[in-house]
Amino acid sequence: MTTTPTSSVPTTAAPLAVPSAPTPEAVEHVMAQVRAQVRPDGAPERMLPAAAYTSAEVLSWERRNLFAGSWTCLGRADEVLTMAGDKPMTQRALMVGDVQVLLVRDPNLTEGTGLRLFANTCRHRGHELLANDESSTRATILCPYHAWTFNLDGSLRAAPGFRDLEGFDPAEFGLVELPVEIWCGWVFAHALHPLGSPEVLDFRAHLGGLADVIEPYAPEALVLAERHSYEVAANWKVVAENYHECYHCPLIHPELCQVSPPDSGDNYDLPGAWVGGAMVLRDGMQTMSLTGELAATPIPGVDPTRIEYLHLLPNLLISAHPDYVMTHRILPLAPDRTWIECSWLVLPPADGSAPTASRAAEFWDLTNRQDWGACESVQRGLSSPHFAPGPFAPNEDAVAKLVTTMSRAYHGRPIA
Ligand code: FES
Ligand SMILES: [Fe+2]
Repeated sequence: MTTTPTSSVPTTAAPLAVPSAPTPEAVEHVMAQVRAQVRPDGAPERMLPAAAYTSAEVLSWERRNLFAGSWTCLGRADEVLTMAGDKPMTQRALMVGDVQVLLVRDPNLTEGTGLRLFANTCRHRGHELLANDESSTRATILCPYHAWTFNLDGSLRAAPGFRDLEGFDPAEFGLVELPVEIWCGWVFAHALHPLGSPEVLDFRAHLGGLADVIEPYAPEALVLAERHSYEVAANWKVVAENYHECYHCPLIHPELCQVSPPDSGDNYDLPGAWVGGAMVLRDGMQTMSLTGELAATPIPGVDPTRIEYLHLLPNLLISAHPDYVMTHRILPLAPDRTWIECSWLVLPPADGSAPTASRAAEFWDLTNRQDWGACESVQRGLSSPHFAPGPFAPNEDAVAKLVTTMSRAYHGRPIA
């Protein structure tokens, strides 16, 4: 495990994942084997097969169909396009699963998100408009290959040498626009199908009942107080499954068990592409911190005894506390390697001072490291030739629900 503790550094840049892509035939071959071993209906009896956690083919399928093909979280809206010197960024290239996108702030878009998303591929001969994670403050989108220029709404503005060419209609060569949404201060992108196509599940349907659980925390009004990023030597689903149960808490999280009983709370069964539940604080404890003392100003109108642990698929874990909202944003780098950005969001201090949540970061950095150690051990165990999927304990029901959700995804069924 490598860890980069970064305090209050607003970066959304994730390392570029460059696995050598397996062929479509190899992906289909391995996925057919996986599908034969998982049930898309009913509660699963066992974990997913080893290949789901170890094979490059399964990860390739997931990056295309689950990360690019549903709604992936790109980070906070106030961080994805920031200032570059004294000028606001107008555009930035990012990866969504295995699809390159260009996120654009269009000042003429006065309603909705103010953002547009395009395929990062020029309509001339396909050059990337910006290299991955590069940004620009230009008022237009300029392809660096032959200088085709696009407006921030994606329309073709100029194509050198084409002006008098008979039969050339610039209206045919606008950038391919993709769906993008902002919810609770987070940006979500769908990169596989163009805006307006029937394959794109409506974002509110993707959220389902999660909206009612999280919106009372008004995360859009919260600001970044602390951030750590980690690279964990485990599959992204091993990390997510570990998040969904506290069966492991008595052995590996003694500090957590002092503030929250590991057998407390229940899981939700509501519509939407998410899995999760709540736990409660022990009497006298105000939040999840080493002493149980608050880490920030309490968020008004939320239950002061309860912590929500929710996973909006594919890549955002939202842990809502009485005084802070913590997120883990997950990016698979390889079948056995995952980048995780852990952020703590709090109410902006009334006196204008810098936001802090050091008690929360201290508590969860310790807990994160305990979890990553377990996840890395699971990954090594899964890679053994003697591994066979095991059964779930009764209090691993949220893990079982995630396995059902993934099984449905592998079978091409809706997950919301
Ligand atoms: S590929 Fe973009 S201008 Fe030629
Ligand atoms: Fe844990």
